[in-house]
Amino acid sequence: MTAIHVTDLVKHYGRIEALRGISFTVKEGEIFGLIGPNGAGKTTALRIVSTLLEITSGTVEVFGYNVKKDPDEVREKISYLPEEAGAYKNLSGKEYLNFMAQFYADGKDVREMVEKGISMSGLEERITDKVGTYSKGMTRKLLVARALMMEPPLAILDEPTSGLDPLIQQRFFSLIEEENRKNGATVLFSSHILSEVQKLCTKVAIIKEGRIIRVDDMETMQDTNYKKYRVALKEELKAEMFGLDGVSDFKIEDGEAAFIFSGDPNVMIRALADRRIRNLTIEEPSLEEIFVRITEGGGNE
Ligand SMILES: Nc1ncnc2c1ncn2[C@@H]1O[C@H](COP(=O)(O)OP(=O)(O)OP(=O)(O)O)[C@@H](O)[C@H]1O
Ligand SMILES: [Mg+2]
Repeated sequence: MTAIHVTDLVKHYGRIEALRGISFTVKEGEIFGLIGPNGAGKTTALRIVSTLLEITSGTVEVFGYNVKKDPDEVREKISYLPEEAGAYKNLSGKEYLNFMAQFYADGKDVREMVEKGISMSGLEERITDKVGTYSKGMTRKLLVARALMMEPPLAILDEPTSGLDPLIQQRFFSLIEEENRKNGATVLFSSHILSEVQKLCTKVAIIKEGRIIRVDDMETMQDTNYKKYRVALKEELKAEMFGLDGVSDFKIEDGEAAFIFSGDPNVMIRALADRRIRNLTIEEPSLEEIFVRITEGGGNE
């Protein structure tokens, strides 16, 4: 089943064209990442899917319900984590989870839900302290736990781990993955940190200036024939030595040449064979490196 179906979505804020006709489909059970630089339109798109923002034109359906015509049905299916969410500062973390659970339980066991939220938050004994006393990261932990404890069919998370330290970030990715695996939750989330997306997503849409410039399975995106080469020589390194077609992002760092080569590896190996090699590695390029190529190219290659 299709979880989200977005067609030709346009959103203007006055004269600002935040979304200029985007289309994408998220299948049930997918973890779908929307990535792009600041101001690309990610939050705008997520708020529209969450029924919180009016559409200028185009259509958005969530599990077959139109966000404009059937917003209540859509809201029953989703749990939305805003980009800059605060929680009620005068409640304790636990009271906040309890309040939200009662509000959204919809027949589910409130106590169980709250217990799950407490454990997901990882806040331990601080869960009984007032939210007003939490650090930014702690508040974020509470809110991500709130969004996931409800076991929504669709979790919409706007930069879920921004402001969290890398260890906690990793833990939250595991939680999101677990929700997806155990409860079949579909996840739509945004990020501009590509390594995040790389770890978590099954599918990725790259958005820039209100347009989706590319949608790919995570595997396809990494499995292009781009490879990253690092070469250290026992002789002096010169850029000319690597002047083959298909070489880009060439750098010499710490006596090592590093570059992306998109072509037959045999050609490169043959070209290197005459050199006195001290060390050679061939790796997958990071999503950052792929991203730079795609966004600079401005579209599908
Ligand atoms: N309420 C608003 N009024 C006017 N313009 C807005 C409003 N909200 C967003 N915009 C504009 O719409 C564009 C897209 O903004 P959006 O917040 O969707 O980007 P984003 O991809 O989420 O960026 P970030 O990574 O910084 O969160 C920007 O040009 C922004 O200035
Ligand atoms: Mg945003």
